Amino acid sequence: MNQEDKFKNVISHAKEYGFVFPSSEIYDGLSAVYDYGQLGAELKNNIKQYWWKSMVQMHENIVGIDSAIFMHPTTWKASGHVDAFNDPLIDNKDSKKRYRADVLVEDHIAKIEGKINKEVEKAAKRFGNSFDAEMFKQTNPRVAGYVAKIDAIEQRMKKCLDDGNLEDFKQLIIDEEIVDPISGSRNWTDVRQFNLMFSTEMGSTAEGANTIYLRPETAQGIFVNFLNVQKTGRMKIPFGIAQIGKAFRNEIVARQFIFRMREFEQMEMQFFVKPGTEMKWYEYWKAERMKWHLSLGIKESEYRFHDHIKMAHYANAAADIEFNFPFGFKELEGIHSRTDFDLKQHEMHSGKKLQYFDPEENKNYVPYVVETSIGLDRMFLAILSTAYEEETLEDGSTRTVLRLPAKMAPYKVAVLPLLKKDGLPEKAREVIDGLKGDFMCQYDEKDAIGRRYRRQDAIGTPFAITVDHQTLEDNTVTIRHRDSMKQERVAIEDVEAIVRKGVRG
Ligand code: GAP
Repeated sequence: MNQEDKFKNVISHAKEYGFVFPSSEIYDGLSAVYDYGQLGAELKNNIKQYWWKSMVQMHENIVGIDSAIFMHPTTWKASGHVDAFNDPLIDNKDSKKRYRADVLVEDHIAKIEGKINKEVEKAAKRFGNSFDAEMFKQTNPRVAGYVAKIDAIEQRMKKCLDDGNLEDFKQLIIDEEIVDPISGSRNWTDVRQFNLMFSTEMGSTAEGANTIYLRPETAQGIFVNFLNVQKTGRMKIPFGIAQIGKAFRNEIVARQFIFRMREFEQMEMQFFVKPGTEMKWYEYWKAERMKWHLSLGIKESEYRFHDHIKMAHYANAAADIEFNFPFGFKELEGIHSRTDFDLKQHEMHSGKKLQYFDPEENKNYVPYVVETSIGLDRMFLAILSTAYEEETLEDGSTRTVLRLPAKMAPYKVAVLPLLKKDGLPEKAREVIDGLKGDFMCQYDEKDAIGRRYRRQDAIGTPFAITVDHQTLEDNTVTIRHRDSMKQERVAIEDVEAIVRKGVRG
């Protein structure tokens, strides 16, 4: 199955089993807005908990907050979002479709990278075991040409964005002969800047309403509370403030399911450090965050770092952790060295000092900040799309299985009486009552046992416990493992420990 088909199947599977629904579907949905269903909400909560535990619970110097979505409008003037939170957009006059100009160029670069990969694959087949891919990339003239071309395109785009030179941006698209992916047309409008913040009114017009914004990042709620938390929590630098919450962006091009949404959730952490130490912490958090991803058991080759070509207005260094989504490598998380930009801006606009007294240095300073920022919905998509598999079994039959990491699975255990009679349902209820205080469990007695196993495979339940007649005699059950489909007979009293071990991983 190609990746495009797999992605379509993941989307329909997500809907069919109650993970993700289009928002207000009875009214034909709302573009780029989605609702999480009964299983999606569980998976999402598990991701949040895993992140919160590893960032807050496991770090003595990181605490978490929950700030409001609405903030004083000056926040966004100070943060630079009113003036600089723009995307360059371009329209195709024939298809009438709108694109982010930088994404068109990045997709074009990805195509050239694809050509490089093909050359490398061909050469690897030709040269066999002795093949050195890195050496080949450096010495093969055709590949070197592609690499130089990518470099030149990236440099030119960076310059256009840094200088705000939108005419040259359009010219770059024309020079590179970039076509509309839908119509194939090169009939482009000029490139324009488009502010991504949603605004609304607070208060009635009679009182004189204020324009306020729906926050486009959760980070600013942390910055404005920096001193509140530092003082009340007696925090000593270096320390972090973490937060999970909704963010809103009026994305120009919202596609690819929950990858790019207009309402989404972020899990962000701002780490406040002594000026001059920020690059050390930037490297530290890049490594830590990659470790977090790999701890979920997803293959290392599915992740890569990508340094930003164009830095956000607040950053002096920035890298993305990209994930190999079904539509290619794309940003999953950002690690940004934000300098003292935000705190200084808030000092200037509020007239309040946002400084830290360093007892070791015996002086006040505005701390520097290293940020880790991951999209919860993107992490959800990364986990779901990696887990989805249509597997052909040894007997030629097929099953759809979600190989979710057990700690992420919506249900950890399904309890299934073999038959709906002979006291088996009552015994199964006893088993589930013993487990449900610790784990999300599902009881299912409908249909043949094989079909029930398949239903649990499809929603990623790692353990299925079957209660049969032998259970009534000796208090043992069979436990079936989702991935291997192996079954073992165990004492009921051992089930909890087996599940706990599996979930802990
Ligand atoms: N505070 C820094 C910040 O917001 P960002 O790179 O703009 O940085 C951070 O966003 C993360 O938020 C991204 O890596 C991505 O995972 C997620 N994200 C951003 N825009 C999104 C959108 N429209 N839909 C879903 N997730 C999004």
